[in-house]
Amino acid sequence: MKALILSGGYGTRLRPLTYSQQKQLIPVANKPVLFYAIEDVIEVGVKEIGIITGPNREQVIETVSSVEWDAEITFIHQGDPKGLAHAILVAEEFLGDDEFVMYLGDNILRDGVLEHASKFRKLKPDSLILLTEVDEPQRFGVAELDEGGRVKRLVEKPKVPPSNYALVGIYFFKPVIIEACKNIKPSWRNELEITDAIQWLIDNEYRVEASIVKGWWKDTGKPEDILEANRLILEDIQPKNEGKAENSRIVGRVVIGPRTVIKNSVIKGPCVIGENCRIVNSYIGPYTSIGNNCEIEETEIEDSVIMDGSKIINAGRIVESLIGRNVHVQEYNYMPKGHRLILGDNSNIVL
Ligand code: TTP
Repeated sequence: MKALILSGGYGTRLRPLTYSQQKQLIPVANKPVLFYAIEDVIEVGVKEIGIITGPNREQVIETVSSVEWDAEITFIHQGDPKGLAHAILVAEEFLGDDEFVMYLGDNILRDGVLEHASKFRKLKPDSLILLTEVDEPQRFGVAELDEGGRVKRLVEKPKVPPSNYALVGIYFFKPVIIEACKNIKPSWRNELEITDAIQWLIDNEYRVEASIVKGWWKDTGKPEDILEANRLILEDIQPKNEGKAENSRIVGRVVIGPRTVIKNSVIKGPCVIGENCRIVNSYIGPYTSIGNNCEIEETEIEDSVIMDGSKIINAGRIVESLIGRNVHVQEYNYMPKGHRLILGDNSNIVL
């Protein structure tokens, strides 16, 4: 089985972060979201992974290539995001005649895909789609199942949902999906939709089965989703302190990277702090991830993601925040008093 992981798209809902960073490279618990997908498919024995790239192609190639994976990785350029089914067509040559798992690179699944891959291998359907029970099916793509659990119909954001089972961004396919993608037309948003391609399979009497996700699943499309995914991942971390703490209190499950110095501070887990950081006279609270080369002084931070190279000095109390790379936040102690802001387009601050 091969894997096709999607790392294209504009990620408009995560602007301004996605002006300079491909959304699947945003870190959750100090690891790019995309790496969780790569690890999941390697865990089920996939040896050939195709990664679909879009606007920030070089970034994705550089970040993925900086790690040695136990699989061969091929980068496939999609360019403009014309839909998930379009991504399959772009990858046609890579996919060849093999069955594959398609994984949206901004999705994280707590328990990985082992159980679902064995169901696909055992039942041998033309497609196996992952579903999860949600409270508001009106907001999702929803599947209608028959008594045997087979998929009868897919509906996008239904006013009257046929079930509470929403589609998760992970799908298993036999190569016939390529024919399905070639036979559908772009939707009202001008994308080739994967739901239309799967519906084509059903309409043409191919067998589409479902597999229910029991642990949590997170689509990291919006800022609050990144924070939530960060909380969920930190919930399971194991402590490891490779840094140096002086006159500080470290409580709970905390990961501290090499060459990081903590002085006169309190760190309360679960949280991760990267390499080569300086944390002085500060409080880092639960559910916080701080990247590499950060400086935090005279500040309290809780329930937040702070990316590499940021400096936060004398900034009071920061909560539920998503702060990009090389950001500088500091209290200004001179006249005239007031907030001095240099914010990129589509920034979002709450004072
Ligand atoms: P979306 O989250 O639907 O799209 P997006 O990333 O462009 O985000 P936004 O709506 O905020 O602009 O895409 C789901 C996943 O699939 C995501 O990881 C991006 C990826 N993708 C592609 O690689 N190619 C595509 O053509 C599309 C539509 C998405």
